[in-house]
Amino acid sequence: MCGIVGVVGRGEAAPLLLEALKRLEYRGYDSAGIATLVNGGIARRRAEGKLVRLAERLAAEPLAGTTGIGHTRWATHGRPSEANAHPIATPRVAVVHNGIIENHAELRAELEAEGAAFESETDTETVVRLLDHALARGASPEEAMAATLPRLQGAFALAVLFAGRNDIIMAARRGSPLAIGFGDGEMYVGSDALALAPLTERICYLEEGDWAVVRGEGATIFDSAGRPVERAIRRTAISGAMVGKGNYRHFMEKEIHEQPAVIGDTLKSYLDPASRRITLPDLGVDLAAVSRAALVACGTSFYAGQVARDWFEQVARLPATADIASEFRYREPVLDPAGIVLGISQSGETVDTLAALRWAKAQGARVLAIVNVRESAMAREADAALLTLAGPEIGVASTKAFTTQLAALACLVIATGEARGALTREAASALAQALIEVPSQTAEALELERRIAAIADDVAAARDVLYLGRGTAWTLAMEGALKLKEISYIHAEGYPAGEMKHGPIALIDEHVPVIVLAPPGPLFEKTASNVQEVHARGGRVILVSDRAGCERLAPLCAHTVPMPAVHPFAAPIVYAIPVQLLAYHVAVLKGTDVDQPRNLAKSVTVE
Ligand code: F6R
Repeated sequence: MCGIVGVVGRGEAAPLLLEALKRLEYRGYDSAGIATLVNGGIARRRAEGKLVRLAERLAAEPLAGTTGIGHTRWATHGRPSEANAHPIATPRVAVVHNGIIENHAELRAELEAEGAAFESETDTETVVRLLDHALARGASPEEAMAATLPRLQGAFALAVLFAGRNDIIMAARRGSPLAIGFGDGEMYVGSDALALAPLTERICYLEEGDWAVVRGEGATIFDSAGRPVERAIRRTAISGAMVGKGNYRHFMEKEIHEQPAVIGDTLKSYLDPASRRITLPDLGVDLAAVSRAALVACGTSFYAGQVARDWFEQVARLPATADIASEFRYREPVLDPAGIVLGISQSGETVDTLAALRWAKAQGARVLAIVNVRESAMAREADAALLTLAGPEIGVASTKAFTTQLAALACLVIATGEARGALTREAASALAQALIEVPSQTAEALELERRIAAIADDVAAARDVLYLGRGTAWTLAMEGALKLKEISYIHAEGYPAGEMKHGPIALIDEHVPVIVLAPPGPLFEKTASNVQEVHARGGRVILVSDRAGCERLAPLCAHTVPMPAVHPFAAPIVYAIPVQLLAYHVAVLKGTDVDQPRNLAKSVTVE
């Protein structure tokens, strides 16, 4: 979603802001802009579309100035256009904003009644007009902020530039994250640490309700009551090198290939390979006494939750549910006081998941987060967090975040199973061993890339694609369909293989590739029967199974992907690799914007 950057600097601000915005491109956006102070006055360049358009504008009409703010906008209120692109400004003040001002309609009506002439369709302009109104009456920038912020309802991160004040920018957050970066005689503001990565390692995250006056030599931070507060400055582990593509064409390709390493890193932090014992950080819960697990998440993270639901029930014999976060609160689930609610998220900022966790906490539930971003709202707000060590995930389509979520969840499930007496030490040790083998099995699966790229030719020509699987492979089928849809724009559906005969079988003909995920295990034979059913109706089966499964069913299949042998428990992690590779290569063939597919945002911070 939208990205914010700001600098109170010593050199030219515009090139630095443009570079920082490029590092935020991964969040997804449809217009962009920069404002700086030129001779004390606000000057802006904005453009609809990708950052190259803004770069062209800046090349044609450069912006001088050492203090400025920049933004990539993912449209919510008002279509993507130059007029709606941020910074939104008057001659006195310019604002960039992430989030939604929920009372914008009332504020707009009030301000228009007082004579304000709005120039955009955005909710953000209400913030600009409120600030402008206060400044016009002689308020200082600090007074204008203090008067404006309490009037805003909803979620926001803001960076504000004031005419005539080359020495400051102001920042504020409620609901949306915002970081302040400490440089050498220069200060920065960014919506996440990635934006600031090459500029500084010293980062301070504003807390809920904070606002700050950022000067060249430091920042003064106030809490929501206007009291000055100290916030810890941390060294971020994110380096500029980590956010590059290396020798890969796309971030997604790089991130797919990083999986053996990052799954290994995640497992190493929770599993001792020598003793094959799970060692979790203190979660503040007695896993032996937990009565049920409610898993909540969105998108790919939800699919990690759905796999974990099955694991909790089958392996740990713990009743478990998996909910799509945006539905969770509204179906008013009955939460057990002795249960745990687990939120799963790469970014730790997804508003639907955050809201579900806040709701669960308000009901008195114990809330755990499985997150990739250590400094995220979910990591901070949950009672305890299990981190996935995927490193920054830049491609919009989630890959390594998913498999590391599964790795962390698998460790939690084994620990729960052992604590509850559902697993003997030997059984727990055997499952731990299955996980220890996952990094090398994913590396082996990656070696199938050329074969999968050849199959992609066939899939790229299709209008619809069906993915089938049973058990956790059904969840993988849905994840495969989601991956294909979002980056190649081909319609795809993931279905339980056994349910196909109750409806979707009507879709099958020679034009619809049917991708069947059939890892070895108790459900293989049943899935093999479903392959027969598809074949009998002229369907083109692409089978992903182990070598024995592929050999056996090859006569019924258009293509096979012979996977390494894996323990059925670990199969959902390893079988994620071929579905990711297939979606990736189809998208490359179709020439879509793989890392930033249309309409999508990396971190979805609106409901
Ligand atoms: C799909 C994808 C999304 C995210 C979803 C949740 O490839 O990336 O479906 O999984 O938006 O995001 P997080 O995990 O950050 O909460």
